[in-house]
Amino acid sequence: MHKISMMTLFVAAGLTVPAVSLALIGNDARVPINLPELQADRYVHTAPTVDELMADESVHPELRKVILKGRDIFMNTQQYRGTYVFNDMTCASCHTGEGGMNWGGPVWPAATTLPNYRPKNDHVNSLEERIAGCFSYSMNGISPEYGSDDMLALVAYHQWLATGAPVYEHRIAGRGFNNLGTQIPEDVDYHRGEQVYQDNCAVCHGTNGEGKRQNGEVVFPAVWGDNSYNWGAGIARIFTAASFIHMNMPLGKPGSLTEQEAWDVAVYINSHERPQDPRYTGDVRETREKYLGFHRHSYYGLEKNGVLLGDHENTGEKPVLKPDILRARTFGADE
Ligand code: HEC
Ligand code: HEC
Repeated sequence: MHKISMMTLFVAAGLTVPAVSLALIGNDARVPINLPELQADRYVHTAPTVDELMADESVHPELRKVILKGRDIFMNTQQYRGTYVFNDMTCASCHTGEGGMNWGGPVWPAATTLPNYRPKNDHVNSLEERIAGCFSYSMNGISPEYGSDDMLALVAYHQWLATGAPVYEHRIAGRGFNNLGTQIPEDVDYHRGEQVYQDNCAVCHGTNGEGKRQNGEVVFPAVWGDNSYNWGAGIARIFTAASFIHMNMPLGKPGSLTEQEAWDVAVYINSHERPQDPRYTGDVRETREKYLGFHRHSYYGLEKNGVLLGDHENTGEKPVLKPDILRARTFGADE
């Protein structure tokens, strides 16, 4: 019902409404939505739904159990707080639409494009390793072991989401969140970002970025501080945060910020402290240089508002700096 009336409204307003945005906007037809189209020249994926999984008799009941277990880990990762996760995040905090939504950071492409070379750690990564990466950085956590039951369940969930997608097809529509491009506009402004934040975000994420809890459970995740993603997380890069925010936030009104507002608020959030990058060498400027390919997009190791960001040993609640799973891997003779 709502979908049809909203579509009519948008058409009347002369706006282009990509189908993907409709599922996102809920019932508030007053919200202007301006999400980008899916690139027409790329593979467009529709991830299967849980209802389809339940109805599909060709899936062995044991596999179905494993996929559902993976989905449960993905959606309710906080149940592993203190073992796999040491901040407020669940996988679904950033990967919206259960990890299957185009432009919401869909996770299934990892199942069809890996193993592949990944610049972040300079070697060929498996799907398990990619999943471990988001545990280590985005969740400020310690990944389940490779080959463990929990890892198998997560892999099965990712692969099931990829059902029907071509293998090693890299031209994927709506992948990631990176629609705004990687170049930070020159006129970004921290103070404007602060205003955007207080007006649109603080109601859920807290005046000090601390998020919200109810009866000890995370309701809205922290966007900076000890309970947020660490300095090595993909979203600590300004452009990734800007695109994520532009696509997905404020919750329930995605696409309602202008691009400028999204950049400004991303700059504001990512100018605040958070747990140390697990790749920390003991010297933040040195670490920034060593991983400049990544950190040239973040403010880590730079001075902002009189503070040298990332110049500390704080790993938040996580008891180690670098989980063992982040080991180097090489097939060459030179290591
Ligand atoms: C704080 C935000 C955040 C959280 C929480 C998070 N991720 Fe991610 N994830 C990202 C970002 C950012 C990317 C990179 C997307 C891009 O390329 O722009 C990413 C990428 C991925 C990819 C690769 C997708 C592709 O296109 O190849 C996978 C797989 C993935 N995440 C799985 C997970 C899993 C599993 C969890 C939970 C253990 C998780 N993520 C938690 C932010 C997050
Ligand atoms: C109505 C509550 C609400 C509002 C308003 C809101 N968010 Fe969120 N935000 C959430 C929730 C809930 C999540 C986790 C995703 C999910 O569960 O769908 C989230 C996730 C995030 C994340 C990734 C996870 C993390 O904690 O870092 C960022 C970054 C973020 N929001 C930034 C913003 C910004 C910037 C604004 C304002 C422009 C905003 N949010 C407004 C509720 C909200």
